[in-house]
Amino acid sequence: MKKLNVGLVGAGFMGKAHSIGYSDMPKYFWPAPAVPVLKTICDIVPEIAADAKERFGFEKCCTDWRDIVNDPEIDVVSICTPNNVHAEIAIAALNAGKHVLCEKPIASTLEDAKAMAEAAKKAAQKGIIAMNAYQYRRVPAIDLAKKFIDEGSIGKILNVRCTYLQSWSADPASPLSWRFQKDIAGAGTLGDIASHVIDIAQYLAGDIEAVTGMMQTYITERPVQEGGTDLLGTVKLGADAKRKAVDVDDEDSFLVKFKNGA
Ligand SMILES: NC(=O)c1ccc[n+]([C@@H]2O[C@H](COP(=O)([O-])OP(=O)(O)OC[C@H]3O[C@@H](n4cnc5c(N)ncnc54)[C@H](O)[C@@H]3O)[C@@H](O)[C@H]2O)c1
Repeated sequence: MKKLNVGLVGAGFMGKAHSIGYSDMPKYFWPAPAVPVLKTICDIVPEIAADAKERFGFEKCCTDWRDIVNDPEIDVVSICTPNNVHAEIAIAALNAGKHVLCEKPIASTLEDAKAMAEAAKKAAQKGIIAMNAYQYRRVPAIDLAKKFIDEGSIGKILNVRCTYLQSWSADPASPLSWRFQKDIAGAGTLGDIASHVIDIAQYLAGDIEAVTGMMQTYITERPVQEGGTDLLGTVKLGADAKRKAVDVDDEDSFLVKFKNGA
């Protein structure tokens, strides 16, 4: 049985999700073309890396992603870090001949995203696979919708309506984690959840040609959380915690025109 050694960078919320995905895959998809082996997990916080190794069943842990990218034993690199470091890790991993599964949004800037796409195109010529983790694409209902659209059985798409709502950050006491800091996240809701909507809409209805929209920030200041994992609103910092202005969006509304006229 072919094995693929996985190196995972960023052992927070999605690090856990990817670990579960890799270890569960052969239980659902069998016979599998290859079986993932949980080789090395990396987190910049040593305690998080060590915990994740034990908890998720990796063979090794480290605190510098370069140890994964430079390890000839690693075949696949999963990138589950905050958005601003996706590009550096992904490009280095692709150049080192590793397959890459990178979390969404692809990057925190357009320049980084373009550089990643370029590196992925080059790597593809050598049979290296690069993917962005827009996992809703594999939801059975979306798969079926795509099939119906592609075979033409529901006719021309005239209108696409999407909504994605989450409320976990609605409390002003929810910390200003990396997700609410533009220099790390790139954007707020737009990158965090609207990116899924945009991906699915384009997957089903084709490329977007024109857009007009509004962005709003309702909670303009939050208590600062330095580093570590984003606690997704589950922990409230005390009233005496240092507070800082929020520079990302809480809500985005937009109207788009697809190339196909929808
Ligand atoms: N596909 C989805 O539905 C989905 C859901 C949530 C998050 N995400 C994406 O996954 C990524 C991670 O989000 P999360 O919710 O897991 O965040 P998180 O805060 O729970 O975890 C991030 C982890 O990365 C570590 N880290 C930070 N910089 C690092 C570095 N340079 N090297 C190694 N480790 C580093 C942090 O210490 C932290 O443990 C983000 O890009 C986010 O947008 C995707």
